[in-house]
Amino acid sequence: MSFEVAVTLDMSTPAAKRASYDLLVAQVRAVLEGERDWLANLAQFAALVHQSVPDLNWAGFYMARGEELVVGPFQGKVACVRIPFARGVCGACARTREIQRVEDVHAFPGHIACDSASRSELVLPVLAGDRLVAVFDLDSPLPARFDPEDARGFAAAVAVLAAGTDWP
Ligand code: SME
Repeated sequence: MSFEVAVTLDMSTPAAKRASYDLLVAQVRAVLEGERDWLANLAQFAALVHQSVPDLNWAGFYMARGEELVVGPFQGKVACVRIPFARGVCGACARTREIQRVEDVHAFPGHIACDSASRSELVLPVLAGDRLVAVFDLDSPLPARFDPEDARGFAAAVAVLAAGTDWP
C-alpha cells in the first residue's frame, strides 16, 4: 500500500467535516493494517492526525500508569511528562473516562498549559475493553476549535485504533 496520506482534510462545512472524519477513519484502518504493536500504532496515529487535521498544535497520547498519565507518542512541542489523574483536562478524562471538550482552556480550572498557543482542547479516553490504557489529547490554537462532530469523528478513529492494537 501507499503511505502517502492526502492533503489537509476539509472541515470548512458540517458536511465536509463529516466526510473528512469518514476519510480519517478509513486512513487509520489503512495505516494500521497488519500491525498491532501499541508503540508503532500510537506513533502512526498521532502523525496521521497531526498531518491531516487542520488547526492543531499538539496531537498525542498520555499513557495510563497507575493513577498517573505519562506522555506517549505525540506530534507538537515538548510537553509535560507526567499528569496525575487529579489534574488538568487529561486527568479529568482519565478519571471520568469521558470525552473532555474544552472550548476555552483559560476557563477550565486546573488546565495545564504545555504550549501557551493552545486555546481549545479535546481529550478522548482510549479503552481496551474496560481498561483505560491511554488518553488521546488534541490542542488547537483556535478558540472553540472542537465541536461535537469533531468529538464523534475522533472517537470513531480512536475506537479503530483501540480495536486494532495489542495493549501492554
Ligand atoms: N493541556 C493538558 C496537558 C497536556 S498538553 O496540552 C500536551 C491538560 O490540561 O491536561
